[in-house]
Amino acid sequence: MKPSKPILITIDGPAGAGKTTVSRALAEAVGYRYVDTGALYRAVALAAEREGVGSEEDAGLERVCNGLDLAFERTETGTRLFLNGEDVTGLIRTPEISMMASAVSARPVVRRFLLSVQKELGRSREAVFEGRDMGTVIFPNAEVKFFLDATPRVRAQRRYREIASSASVTLDEVEQDIIQRDKNDSTRAIAPLKPAQDAVSIDPTGMSGDEVVGKMLAHIAEVTSR
Ligand code: DC
Repeated sequence: MKPSKPILITIDGPAGAGKTTVSRALAEAVGYRYVDTGALYRAVALAAEREGVGSEEDAGLERVCNGLDLAFERTETGTRLFLNGEDVTGLIRTPEISMMASAVSARPVVRRFLLSVQKELGRSREAVFEGRDMGTVIFPNAEVKFFLDATPRVRAQRRYREIASSASVTLDEVEQDIIQRDKNDSTRAIAPLKPAQDAVSIDPTGMSGDEVVGKMLAHIAEVTSR
């Protein structure tokens, strides 16, 4: 059921905390759009890789960003991301693009470019934004903010289950990847990963997706009834 007034909901947290499943389910439950902002960083990474631009070449990254048209479209198979008209939804999910996305996300030129893209996407409110700095930097005035977090091992187990059928990696490798990305994402100078002061923190370990969403819905009902 839609909240009694139009609000913005943000869900931040590290890789593998289960943000995507929960964000999608929450958006569905309240009848809002779901916006996966990590996909935007991944699309920038894919475009840079295709053009042979390294993750520390700011001038090249700026050129890549300026040539990008990024659009989410709702289709029968879920929300898909189009990069200059090409559906890149599947292409941005490889381990290489994950690492490259983490690296380019530390560059101010990339964050500046995506800041305006994201603000535009949030203009009409009524959306669930999933990312790392939604509640702290992009939408500091969002009415409802959540921060999902769990230990690296628990998060690695989740990622491992998701990718096990399509990749030849071990659980330990996935955990090392997660620890490395956590380090990149939380120590970068610009928009480091951290909970907003007014975010509600949830550790979903041992909870079902429905239970997490139920908790979120209860909080939303409380905030919107004020
Ligand atoms: O959520 P994800 O794994 O798809 O995100 C890919 C990378 O993008 C991740 O390493 C951190 C970065 N990211 C970010 O810096 N800010 C966001 N709002 C979303 C993602």
